[in-house]
Amino acid sequence: MPTLDWIGKKAVVNHHRDVPYRLIHCDKDKSVGDPDAGNLLVQGDNLEALKALLPYYAGKVKCIYIDPPYNTGEQGWVYNDNVNSLEIQSWLGRIVGKEAEDLSRHDKWLCMMYPRLRLLKEFLDPDGVIFVSIDDEEVVGLRILLSEIFGKSRFIGQFVWKSRQNKDNRTVTGASIDHEYVLAFGGAIRGDGRKEDQFKNPDDDVRGPWTSGNMVGIATKDARPNLHYPLVSPQSGIDYGCPQMGWRFDRKRMAQMISENRILWPPDPGGRPRQKVFLDEFKNKFTGFSSIVGAGLFTRDGTKEIDEIFGERAFPFAKPSALIRQLIIQGCPDGGIILDSFAGSGTTGHAVLEQNQSDKINRQFILVEMDSLIAPQITAKRLAHISNKVGSGFRYCTLGEPLFDADGNVNSAVSFPDLAAHVFFCETGSPIPKRADAASRLIGTFQDRAIYLLQNPASVGVASEKAGNVLTLKTLEAILSEDNFTGPRVIYAEGCTVPDARLDKAGVTFKQIPYQIEGL
Ligand SMILES: C[S@@+](CC[C@H](N)C(=O)[O-])C[C@H]1O[C@@H](n2cnc3c(N)ncnc32)[C@H](O)[C@@H]1O
Repeated sequence: MPTLDWIGKKAVVNHHRDVPYRLIHCDKDKSVGDPDAGNLLVQGDNLEALKALLPYYAGKVKCIYIDPPYNTGEQGWVYNDNVNSLEIQSWLGRIVGKEAEDLSRHDKWLCMMYPRLRLLKEFLDPDGVIFVSIDDEEVVGLRILLSEIFGKSRFIGQFVWKSRQNKDNRTVTGASIDHEYVLAFGGAIRGDGRKEDQFKNPDDDVRGPWTSGNMVGIATKDARPNLHYPLVSPQSGIDYGCPQMGWRFDRKRMAQMISENRILWPPDPGGRPRQKVFLDEFKNKFTGFSSIVGAGLFTRDGTKEIDEIFGERAFPFAKPSALIRQLIIQGCPDGGIILDSFAGSGTTGHAVLEQNQSDKINRQFILVEMDSLIAPQITAKRLAHISNKVGSGFRYCTLGEPLFDADGNVNSAVSFPDLAAHVFFCETGSPIPKRADAASRLIGTFQDRAIYLLQNPASVGVASEKAGNVLTLKTLEAILSEDNFTGPRVIYAEGCTVPDARLDKAGVTFKQIPYQIEGL
């Protein structure tokens, strides 16, 4: 398979391993609404934020959507689009070294993206999907990079979004580039069909289970005038007007649907009528998801959403939330987590919250935004606005100290549950099933083995029998008798005084903190 090479690649291919694990702090004052809704906004460089989140979410994310800087060379906007932000410049200098001075902006962009994509891969559920927005500047390199990291065989599509409504007549080449791409890799997407469990029969309709379907069209009035007309309910007389892109059915077909009692009329005249779609008629009608996404949605729709929430152009080029909603429906089922590590104005969170409300299901989001002004003043404000509307909430988090200090010792600020989460993840590659409780040395089981942690935050770095962070014969006997686990045990502690033969007999592997905690 062809791979991509660029100046600085060698320095970054394994860099994700060297990124320190940090603590994550929740800021109650900046969090909004229900803290247990499962939604997070993390302010920080996504490289460090992703590493910090990994022990909790590895393999658990169903859908990743990212919209990284497109590297167009723009500098005057709210955020830097050309990887020349101070944070990324200094990061490149540190990681790539002297060579970084000679990198072209494309090399720099690839250096920036590679370790972040490597970490993102660790989050993805085996059936999960990653969507990446990009334009012509970097699409070629990015697609090869994604093939290299996620696997060529997991390529789903290079979707096209017509983002510009009107042609650009000022280009030097004469070509008006009116589209962007969304690259998709991973397991299969859902397609435009519906799953059977979405069909219910709340009104005992004799035609059986049904689900509500959209009736909004996709054509302008000029293109399909026969689909543009005001729709009026014959029962209530409410006139619901006509959507901007018309209806899906012409007047004749609509009249037939009305006579067959297939239309769901909202009580509010501002609502949008929908159709009853019956399972019996729908079976085996699953269709492919078109590679042309967001038809009828343009960049200006995203901008309009920002203007409406903030009363000004607080963020440039935000994606329309309806575009992200289309992707979420494809990539994330009920209960799934969606991760966006280049959150910008928070469109992904906005889309998740509103799509949940309309589907009456519960997906959760994790957003990361590096900029210390954008995250609290734009992303959080937008999420608060939508959360308050739909009755949800999110936790606002920042990155804390590294788990290990410069000498490799556990940082004294690290609590028992934080270290337990980290140890469990490093031992198993999976997130800890339940937040650990300092009262229990058993922090979790995985497949056939049980994992234990002996730690006393007051005596970090000092092996002390009195502090309880040393595996002694007495502690071992207590552990063996306190649970009826029959498989192998792995015990992490600062020290061990039990002879090897006794450990072997008990089926126990001792691992010393911090040296034998081996993360990704
Ligand atoms: C193109 S914008 C995303 C726009 C977003 N999709 C929206 O609709 O608002 C990219 C965002 O990524 C952020 N960003 C860039 N590098 C980052 C990094 N290393 N970690 C986290 N965020 C980063 C920028 O500050 C910017 O807000």
